[in-house]
Amino acid sequence: MHILRTVAELRQWARTGRAQGGTIGLVPTMGALHAGHASLIRAAKAACGQVAVSIFVNPTQFGPHEDYAVYPRTFDADCALASAQGADAVFAPAVEELYPAGAATFVDVEGLSSRLDGASRPGHFRGVATVVSKLLIAAEADFGFFGQKDAAQVAVLRRMVTDLRLPAKLVVCPIVREPDGLALSSRNAYLSPAERTQALTLSRAIRQVEALVAAGQRSAASLIAAARQTFAAEPTLRIDYIELVDWATLEPAETARPNTLFAVAAWVGQTRLIDNTVIA
Ligand code: PAF
Repeated sequence: MHILRTVAELRQWARTGRAQGGTIGLVPTMGALHAGHASLIRAAKAACGQVAVSIFVNPTQFGPHEDYAVYPRTFDADCALASAQGADAVFAPAVEELYPAGAATFVDVEGLSSRLDGASRPGHFRGVATVVSKLLIAAEADFGFFGQKDAAQVAVLRRMVTDLRLPAKLVVCPIVREPDGLALSSRNAYLSPAERTQALTLSRAIRQVEALVAAGQRSAASLIAAARQTFAAEPTLRIDYIELVDWATLEPAETARPNTLFAVAAWVGQTRLIDNTVIA
């Protein structure tokens, strides 16, 4: 597996792969890879001739009081996982490689970027859109692979790819969960054993909403009220949002219909976790 450090190396790698007849798949990550990332890499490898995994803790998507400095950095283990899942290259640039001195160009997806996670993390989606556009362009990617767990991020990136007329197609892979339901996240590593148990409230609320929808309940107000009740059983959690939205626009939806997104975010101690379900 190739370890690439510069945009020039990534571009050269992609061009060589394409010349050999392969399509290029990119799996953007911030490292601390887990089974959710592994599923993205496997999906990429099944669909593309050449697959690069980017590992870059992107400073511009963290707020001033967020966990950029302490975000888990596990490069050697990440490379081993990426290679075992069939990645052909890891792209791990220094910050100055993606943000040269004086960098002043950002991608701002207006409207969507201030909804859901964007409402409580101002500037977060601007950072995400900026780095993902740089990565997709540098890799000359045909496909980019993202997890449904970050469903608001997916909505922002779909809009961005459409608006910038980027050639890459976005592939969204299902949420990977622990056997007890907890959605996999690199930030789960922050949870104490007690918080790990409390965190199950998120997936419990999602499962409950899925059951209600399957039973015919479609009203957003009822679904949100039911999820709030589930959270009420675990008062140590601080709810950030519980919303039903249109997955394309992230605008609130009144009824659960296909392509609406039921999404929750909550603080478990110092750790903010998210979970969701897309209504079929
Ligand atoms: O989902 C993530 O891990 C990050 O937001 C991403 C897409 C790698 C951009 O830094």
